[in-house]
Amino acid sequence: MQKKVEIKAKFDLHHIVRGMKDILPQETRYWELIRRKVFELARDYSFQYIETPIVEQQNLFVRSIGEGTDIVEKEMFTFTDQGGEALVLRPEATASIVRAFNEHGMINQPQPVKLFYYGSMFRRERPQAGRQREFHQFGFETLGDSQAITDAQLILLAYNFFKELGLAIDIQINSLGNSQSRERYKKELAEYYKPKRNQLCDDCKKRLLKNPLRVLDCKNPNCVELSLDAPQIIDYLDEEDNKHFTQVLEYLDELELPYNLNPRIIRGLDYYSRTTFEIWPSGKSEGRQNALGGGGRYDGLSELLGGRPTPACGFAVGIERTISLLKEKEIFVPGLETPQVYLAQLGDVSRKKALKLYENLRREGFTVAESFAKDGIKPQLEIANRLNIKIALILGQKENIDGTILMRDMESGTQEVINYEKIIPELRKRLSKVNQNNGVKIIRTDISNEEIKL
Ligand code: HAM
Repeated sequence: MQKKVEIKAKFDLHHIVRGMKDILPQETRYWELIRRKVFELARDYSFQYIETPIVEQQNLFVRSIGEGTDIVEKEMFTFTDQGGEALVLRPEATASIVRAFNEHGMINQPQPVKLFYYGSMFRRERPQAGRQREFHQFGFETLGDSQAITDAQLILLAYNFFKELGLAIDIQINSLGNSQSRERYKKELAEYYKPKRNQLCDDCKKRLLKNPLRVLDCKNPNCVELSLDAPQIIDYLDEEDNKHFTQVLEYLDELELPYNLNPRIIRGLDYYSRTTFEIWPSGKSEGRQNALGGGGRYDGLSELLGGRPTPACGFAVGIERTISLLKEKEIFVPGLETPQVYLAQLGDVSRKKALKLYENLRREGFTVAESFAKDGIKPQLEIANRLNIKIALILGQKENIDGTILMRDMESGTQEVINYEKIIPELRKRLSKVNQNNGVKIIRTDISNEEIKL
C-alpha cells in the first residue's frame, strides 16, 4: 500500500480578520445591481458623488456621534499613528461629509448641496448575522436646507431604492425635536428610569447618567421591557418642531408612502434633531436589530464641527443587509453580461494570430471570451457552451494558410468558412440576427420579482 505522504505547508494558512468579509466574484452581480441603482437614483434626484477618506481624526466622530454612544464607547477602530495623531477607521460617513462641506467652503455654493457616497465603514461590533466589522453603506445627504419637504423627499428616495429592487420595507419615523426640547425630555426620562435603575443593564445604568436617551436604544430585553411605558419625545416637542414633523408626515401622505410613527426611533448617534427614520424589512418586528437603513435631520452638526450653521438631512443604507434580503426573498438578479463571441485557436501560429484578433474585436466593440491557454478545440468549445455564447470563431492551421476563419453557430453546430478580412461585418450581421431572435433583453429592476421572472 502506498504510504500516505503528509505535505506540511511551510507557513500557516492566513485567515481573514474577524468580522471582515471577502466579496467573491459570484457576489458581484448583487453589488453591481445596487451600485447601478444608487447611481441611477442619484442622477434622477440630482445628487453629486463625493468620496471622503476612510481614515479620519478620532475627535471628528467623538464630537459628532457623541460620547455616550456604543459606536464611540466600544466600536471604533482607533489607532495612534507614527506621528502621535489619534485616528480612526470611519464608523460612518455623515460626520466626514459635514467636515468636507465645511473644509471646502461648500456653504458658498448654491444651497442646498446634495451629496451621495458609497464605501466601507468600520465598527468593532460583535460579528453576527447582519453585523460585520467592515461593512458598506451608501448614503444621501442634503446640506443647507431646513424644509420639511427635503426630509420627505429623502425618505421617498430611500423607499424607491428598495421598491425598485423589488423589496418590501417599512418606514419607521419619529421626531427628536430641537436641543432644548430634547433636554427637557431627557430630564423626564431620567426621572422615569430612576426608580427602575436596578433593573437596567450595567451599560444603561451608566447611560442614565450620561444620556438617558440612549437607554431607549438599548437592545437588552429587560431594558426594552422597561422602556415600553417611558414618556415619549413627541409630547415634548415645541411648536416649531411639531409643525415641521406634521409637514413631513403630510408630504409622505401626499406621496401615499406608508409609514409607522415609532417613538423609539431615537437612533444610535447623537447628532440628530427633528426627523429621524429607519427602514426595516417589511413585517419584521426585530427590524430594529437589523435595520436596512436609517437617517434623519442633523441641523446642529455643522456648527458642532466648527462650521457655519447649516441645517441638513440624510440617510444611509447597509449594502450587505440589502443583499441578504435580496437573497432571502429570492429576488432575481441578472448575472453579468454573456460575451457575444468565443475565440478558439489551434496551434502556435493561430494562437499568436488570435491574440491580435482578440484586440481587434475588442476595439470594434465586441465582448469576446477566450481560453488561450487551452490546446484542443473540443475543450474550448465546451467552455463556449458553458458560457452560453452563441457564436464561436475557430482559427485552425488550415484557416491560417487559407486566410479564413470558421464561424460556428453554437446552437445548431453549423459552421461556415469566412474570409479573414470579413470577420467584423459578418459578426455584426449575425449578432444582429441573434438579438432579433432573442428579443432585446432589457434588465429592469423596478418591477416585482414575479414580473421579472416572466
Ligand atoms: P446607521 O443607522 O448607524 O446610520 O447605519 C446605517 C445602516 O448601516 C444600518 O441601517 C445598517 O444597514 C448598516 N450597518 C450599520 N452597522 C452595521 C454593521 N455592523 N454591519 C452591517 N451593516 C451595518 C448611519 O451610519 C448614519 N450616518 C446615517 C445617516 C446619514 N444619518 C444622516 N445621514
